[in-house]
Amino acid sequence: MTPADTELISAPAYWHAARHAPNINSFGSAIAIIQDELGHAHIAYRLLRDLGVDTEELVYQRDPVKWKYPYAFDVPLDSFYELIIANAFYDRAGYTLLGDVAANTTFGPWKRALVKVDKEETFHLRHGEQWMRKLAPLCQELGFRVPAHHDEASQRWVVDCAFPSAFDERRKRWLLEEGAITWDDVMVRWKKRGPSNAEFVAHVQRGNRGLAKLLEVA
Ligand SMILES: [Fe+2]
Ligand SMILES: [Fe+2]
Repeated sequence: MTPADTELISAPAYWHAARHAPNINSFGSAIAIIQDELGHAHIAYRLLRDLGVDTEELVYQRDPVKWKYPYAFDVPLDSFYELIIANAFYDRAGYTLLGDVAANTTFGPWKRALVKVDKEETFHLRHGEQWMRKLAPLCQELGFRVPAHHDEASQRWVVDCAFPSAFDERRKRWLLEEGAITWDDVMVRWKKRGPSNAEFVAHVQRGNRGLAKLLEVA
């Protein structure tokens, strides 16, 4: 998984859901997040280019299944609710990962670039958390139960369902009734890539392909 691919593909993935924002302010926040992600991708690919990588090939010519970003982005976010949960959890995951890099990397250009990325990722995960906070009392009111409990003895949260479990990517449902699977099985699913992989990569590559065609004609 590379941070550059993850940042870039989060743009079409978030756009897929941002279109369903409930009002203009929410839409504005979602678009600002997408713009940030494009900026982060630009920074990350620029670092790769400075290290001698052919980023034109990497971004515009690469086969979708060769992209290395988290499988979760291949499962389309179809509503604003799914977007804010992604902001709360995916951007939190990115923040944790990049925070570790920022604290420990000795590569100056990346360390400096992450100062800006860190501030913007904080905005993304706060955006998700604030919306989730509004929805969570609602869930309590509705009596939703989460399959996890806090174990007092070990002071840890324990998952009460099959984990990890198989996933029906078309219905976006965990197949908990089939019992736990292995992490090797999970890796197979991740490496195969998910339902929106080709669509989102095509989204990113479309403009460049169109331009190349125009230049051919000229
Ligand atoms: Fe980002
Ligand atoms: Fe983000």
